Amino acid sequence: MRVLVTGGAGFIGSNFVHQTLATRPDAEVTVLDALTYAGSRSSLEGADVRFVEGLVQDGALVDRLVGESDVVVHFAAESHNDNSLASPGPFVQTNVVGTYELLEAVRRHDVRYHHISTDEVYGDLELDVPDRFTEATPYNPSSPYSSTKGASDLLVRAWVRSFGVRATISNCSNNYGPRQHVEKFIPRQVTNLIDGVRPRLYGDGLNVRDWIHVDDHNSAVWAIIDRGRMGETYLIGADGEVDNKTVVAEILTLMGREPGDFDHVTDRPGHDRRYAIDWTRLRDELGWQPQYRDFRSGLAATIDWYRANEDWWRPQKSATEARYATAEQVL
Ligand code: NAD
Ligand code: TYD
Repeated sequence: MRVLVTGGAGFIGSNFVHQTLATRPDAEVTVLDALTYAGSRSSLEGADVRFVEGLVQDGALVDRLVGESDVVVHFAAESHNDNSLASPGPFVQTNVVGTYELLEAVRRHDVRYHHISTDEVYGDLELDVPDRFTEATPYNPSSPYSSTKGASDLLVRAWVRSFGVRATISNCSNNYGPRQHVEKFIPRQVTNLIDGVRPRLYGDGLNVRDWIHVDDHNSAVWAIIDRGRMGETYLIGADGEVDNKTVVAEILTLMGREPGDFDHVTDRPGHDRRYAIDWTRLRDELGWQPQYRDFRSGLAATIDWYRANEDWWRPQKSATEARYATAEQVL
């Protein structure tokens, strides 16, 4: 099976490539990645893949690569909410225009397409209510990031209905694990602590995210590619709701510090309060189950990975913190 993975040098895409090569001996993997600030060639170290550096908005390149594939898994995106607030333009180009080019190519070549998206397209939920997102929840995105992801999902739905494109969509909750960029919440706090800097919580720190290990996300993606119903959307989650303050306290404790040893900083504008996923469809229709059920031990392994792989994250750290320094103040 010839698999085209866009964004395969990023966090989730690179883990997808490693998992695919380890579990699917029949897979021949091509990665298309622009190597933006978020992509790293070293994330694919040891992976036997064809690597093509390029943009998903490059229609001619995308057409050629899609024409040489049996399945396309589209991870490439501008993925960070804070960056989308500072500079939304690249989010429209990559997330919307890039998806359009891929859809046109899979339509021309009749190639199976899987679209990677986020639960953030559904907006947010109140704290302390039992509600969770389902495949029927109306789209209500809050940020430039989530609105461009929502727009790309809607393009996929329209290409399925109007042109019969063979596509599925997955909307996953917050991922954690190795090779995540240091701009994101968990790696930022872990690498700050390695550098002797106190963790930084936006606002009151009570926002809730529904954490899933990246390997569980990727095994669910394969379940959908293998057995998903064409044209359907599947929500991916693992019952991992935790508020940010608790996550930081866990990280501090695991790293030998006092659990209250953090600062509150300026809140993110439009900050979504809570995400929570109902993944019943994935379980009942496809028989998928997450493997990482203990967040604390997954977090401990992730901390170990950042301790052991400073060469990987160090080059990005100071530029990332410089970007944050202009936007946030300790409260
Ligand atoms: P990431 O930022 O770590 O990686 C994105 C990758 O895409 C990078 O390698 C980057 O170089 C590449 N890229 C960016 N723009 C490109 C372009 N125009 N052309 C080609 N390549 C380009 O992101 P991630 O966290 O791995 O997220 C991957 C996908 O999963 C995204 O679609 C994101 O919306 C989705 N998702 C992420 C999470 C999460 O918690 N991180 C949760 C749910 C869904
Ligand atoms: P993030 O990793 O940016 O993911 P998302 O915005 O897609 O959920 O942030 C996760 C949560 O952590 C979110 O509620 C914002 C919060 N956060 C902080 O409190 N401090 C930080 O330094 C960062 C980067 C995020």
